[in-house]
Amino acid sequence: MTDPSGQIDHVLAESRTFPPPPEFTAKAVFSTMDQYEAAYRRAAEDRDGFWRDEATEHLHWFEPFQEVCRWQAPNAEWFVGGKTNASYNCLDRNIDAGRGDRTAIVWEGEPGDTRSLTYSELRTEVAKCAAALRELGVGVGDVVSVYMPMTPELAVTMLACARIGAIHSVIFAGFSAESIADRNNDAGAKVIVTADGLHRRGKVLPLKETVDEALAKSPTVQKCLVLRRVGQDGVSMQEGRDVWWHELVDKQSGDLPAVPLDSETTLFILYTSGSTGKPKGIRHTTAGYNLWAKRTFQWVFDHRDEDVYWCTADCGWITGHSYIVYGPLSAGATCLMYEGAPNHPAEDRFWELVEKYKVSVLYTAPTAIRAFIKWGDEHVEKHDLTSLRLLGSVGEGINPEAWMWYHRKIGNERCPIVDTWWQTETGGIMMSPLPGITATKPGSCTRPLPGVFPKIVDESGQPVEANHGGMLCIAEPWPGMLRGIWGDEERFIEQYWSKVPGMYLTGDNARQDEDGYYWIMGRIDDVINVSGHRLSTIEVESALVSHELVCEAAVVGRPDDLKGQAIAAFVTVRGGEPDEALRKELQQHVRNQIGALAQPDDLRFAAALPKTRSGKIMRRLLRDIAAGHEVVGDTSTLEDYSVLAKLRDED
Ligand code: PRX
Repeated sequence: MTDPSGQIDHVLAESRTFPPPPEFTAKAVFSTMDQYEAAYRRAAEDRDGFWRDEATEHLHWFEPFQEVCRWQAPNAEWFVGGKTNASYNCLDRNIDAGRGDRTAIVWEGEPGDTRSLTYSELRTEVAKCAAALRELGVGVGDVVSVYMPMTPELAVTMLACARIGAIHSVIFAGFSAESIADRNNDAGAKVIVTADGLHRRGKVLPLKETVDEALAKSPTVQKCLVLRRVGQDGVSMQEGRDVWWHELVDKQSGDLPAVPLDSETTLFILYTSGSTGKPKGIRHTTAGYNLWAKRTFQWVFDHRDEDVYWCTADCGWITGHSYIVYGPLSAGATCLMYEGAPNHPAEDRFWELVEKYKVSVLYTAPTAIRAFIKWGDEHVEKHDLTSLRLLGSVGEGINPEAWMWYHRKIGNERCPIVDTWWQTETGGIMMSPLPGITATKPGSCTRPLPGVFPKIVDESGQPVEANHGGMLCIAEPWPGMLRGIWGDEERFIEQYWSKVPGMYLTGDNARQDEDGYYWIMGRIDDVINVSGHRLSTIEVESALVSHELVCEAAVVGRPDDLKGQAIAAFVTVRGGEPDEALRKELQQHVRNQIGALAQPDDLRFAAALPKTRSGKIMRRLLRDIAAGHEVVGDTSTLEDYSVLAKLRDED
């Protein structure tokens, strides 16, 4: 069993349990184990009945659906024949229910500027943006790329696309021009929405310049809508293609109604890394995804009217899609949204925000928690965090010590922690404690939500025994599941549905303990998790090899205290002795090709890479070398032992 994150040892040793505080349970959405078990059983025994009731009660239907689930693995259709709209569910439905004056989004920019939008105000903004997109030629089924800072306009743009049946493809604002162009081209994007720049750690980063570079290589994109966020001078606007948000959106009337859309209308695509060099556009559709995001939000975050909920993710990732926009807004929640870095102007910025806005539910990532631990408790202790009642974690396994710190220092030993396991592909949370009823164990995502049927299997597809690791699969369809990879049906089948017939292959390893709790144990493929961001090692290799001096590159993850995994690259180059300048140049090259998040932390030059006789790079050995471990295990297939010796000498 591979364990690139080095977490298995902790995980196997962990036996502490933390029952939910009784005062929490008393008011919880799930307040008895019987209630959960009954829901779980019903979803298992009467899938259609369970989801019929859920969808009927929790979504708005312009026209009712005729069939709940049409399932022919790997193709699922949910709520067939119905018509709904995700923007309607997030906005109009709340307003119709008399909640228009509730705050939907409270926003703070990094420089400290603030805005607050009620559900009614948000709907007006969304309708204006939707009308503007229409004016730019966007209609049902058109793809809109979105490359924006974490401003309310980012959520507005997503919901505006949803309102008119356009498909958003949000690209995290840290990606390079090259990555934007790849995504534009793969999706055939018609319009891109961006901003002049964003604020990050006190600096202004230009976004429009990067988009201009991308658009030179994106022939399908006809229009570019530009938000003025930072007020930078000298932003170049191309006549006939580029238009300012304040000139086009602000002049619209704001009453454009939501278009009734078939349940299976594509809501968005979101690119994520797989085990090859090319990111894949994960496709989610309207009704099933919307329902999954909403219900999982209500269940896991135990949503109450008085909550102020803060998810610290960026809308560029699935967490932002499901738990900043679609889940909480469908549930009528009040959400805090923050633009900037957690350590600007100082390391207490998050805690200052929690105190200022009286945040009650906080959802963040282990990589952030590890950074807070490193920065020191004094930053936390300066602030009153008594408003908090529930804490969440997502993106990677949380190491038990980080869990304990989160529990003690942030939760003051009173707040349950929900460690939520899920993926871009699953649309929403799949396994998580239910905070009113689940006794938690640090490092375990505990049990599946109603409607989720995990199976752990070995290489031959057979179930493994308790406490044995194996491949984590999901046996039955669920409403939020991906509907495909944009434009690549073959890859969809090959990656998720061919290894274990009839089941969705998650790509993660897991084990289940004697209490039935699940423990995620890292990936089965060449995907690494760097600060909670998913990257393919092959993607980074391809970026390196695209440099003219690189012959060959192998990239592996190595354990890192802050990032979870860091990126280690082994590179062979042509001509002359490589030097420090070349190392820097190659690191910059990867930034230019993919983005700063993919820059190798270590880059070693090697005369040759260790390979098997059949020519496969022996990544296991490189992982050991990168981690500074003695090389262990079988090296009998290594083609040339001297290669290994040379790589070791490099240390
Ligand atoms: O390996 C798992 C890890 O992140 C992967 C999914 O990454 P992505 O699609 O970018 O979505 C991240 C946000 C949901 C998973 O295959 N992962 C995510 N959450 C956890 C986790 N690993 C362990 N525990 C978690 N709570």
